[in-house]
Amino acid sequence: MNSADMANRVKKPAHVPDALVYAFDYNTDPEYCRDPHARAADLARNAPPIFWTPYNGGHWMVQAHAAVHEALRDYETFSSEHFSPEAFNSMMAELPEEERIPAPVPICIDPPQHAKLRMPLFSTFSPKAALAREKEIRELAERLIDGIAKQGRCEFQHDVSDIYPVEIFLGMFGLPVEKEREYRELAKKHLSVITPDLSENMLMMQAIAAVMRETIVERRANPKQDIISMLWALEIEGEPMTLDLMLSYCVILFIAGLDTVVNALGFGVRHLATDPELQRVLRANPALIPEASEEILRRYAFVAPIRLVKKEREFHGAELKEGERVMMFIPSASVDERVYRDATTYDMNREKHPQMAFGAGPHYCLGVHLARLELRVMYETILKKLPEFRLDPEHPPTFHGSIIAGPSSIHLRWDV
Ligand code: HEM
Repeated sequence: MNSADMANRVKKPAHVPDALVYAFDYNTDPEYCRDPHARAADLARNAPPIFWTPYNGGHWMVQAHAAVHEALRDYETFSSEHFSPEAFNSMMAELPEEERIPAPVPICIDPPQHAKLRMPLFSTFSPKAALAREKEIRELAERLIDGIAKQGRCEFQHDVSDIYPVEIFLGMFGLPVEKEREYRELAKKHLSVITPDLSENMLMMQAIAAVMRETIVERRANPKQDIISMLWALEIEGEPMTLDLMLSYCVILFIAGLDTVVNALGFGVRHLATDPELQRVLRANPALIPEASEEILRRYAFVAPIRLVKKEREFHGAELKEGERVMMFIPSASVDERVYRDATTYDMNREKHPQMAFGAGPHYCLGVHLARLELRVMYETILKKLPEFRLDPEHPPTFHGSIIAGPSSIHLRWDV
């Protein structure tokens, strides 16, 4: 252990037994950054089902499937309110309007207030609303894959994954396409600053709000057929929509809906590139793609939400104290052998057990229908337009850790 590594560790609190300490840094762990899912499987096998790590300020990690599932539902113990909404709002009220940082609701609010802010979004993110976008999403997917098909090679994250959800987002939200590069930069930057340091995240949210503000304000007076106009038309408990809430909604949808899809696609395409038999099966029978995509989401789950302990309790053998942070390590929970037989094997025919890549409980992913559609359409398009593709042996895939782990580069090759 070098001195920089030592400096990143905090002292173990007295109530944490030595047997529950396991050093894992989700941002810099070399094995996690080399291959997040190999390391997650290693943790599932070798670290306690719930353990305390001295990194990132010191926090608990829950990795057993049953415990993660239970904790995500138990919002009274495991709170999503990393800061008090009252304190946040009074701090905001003191700032000039254009500097206000929107709280990313509903993800940072606990029930019962959470439901009031989540429910108005249901119609905008229903299965029907997602399907209504299929044609434009398919056109975009085809344009992107046509753009690389003749090259015989690509770096999939740069050439496809980074562009796809951002363009979908701009189209759905009616945001100016000329700003695409700016939005892509922001999406990438956001990914690199997800840290427990709230102030850094706040500044990022402020930057995202700033780039959208003009369109949001303009659309209030001139509604169009887009999500921003739909959101303006919502009422929250009988009250008209406010600019602050509009900014909050747009920021959380930007944060939650872009790098998640970018990473899911990268992991999925990496798997396909190493599994020519699966490519063959899906090309012959594209109706199996949704099922194949669900198993990819399970095998390569990559989001690890963090909660704050609101009340002291014993939890699966650990004594949790108020104010401690707990990471719900879905990547390990998704390869828990107690739930999924031969869990590290990709098997689209496995006995059905719901995967947890989209979370569980009150904060279950709101964009799940849109996400599944985006993934299905992209897999359909790749498999239709590209011949069998493989990883480029000269440039092996690279990955990054963080609360949302993902591929940094996936170099592919195919014959032309
Ligand atoms: C494969 C892609 C995606 C994955 C794996 C994913 C995963 C997740 C997870 C695990 C959560 C729970 C977070 C928590 O418990 O704190 C979540 C929440 C959320 N997701 Fe997704 N997501 C994806 C795509 C999307 C998309 C495309 C959108 C919308 C454009 C979206 C919008 C949201 C929102 C708004 C929440 C917060 C819901 C709430 O607090 O009630 N997500 N997502």
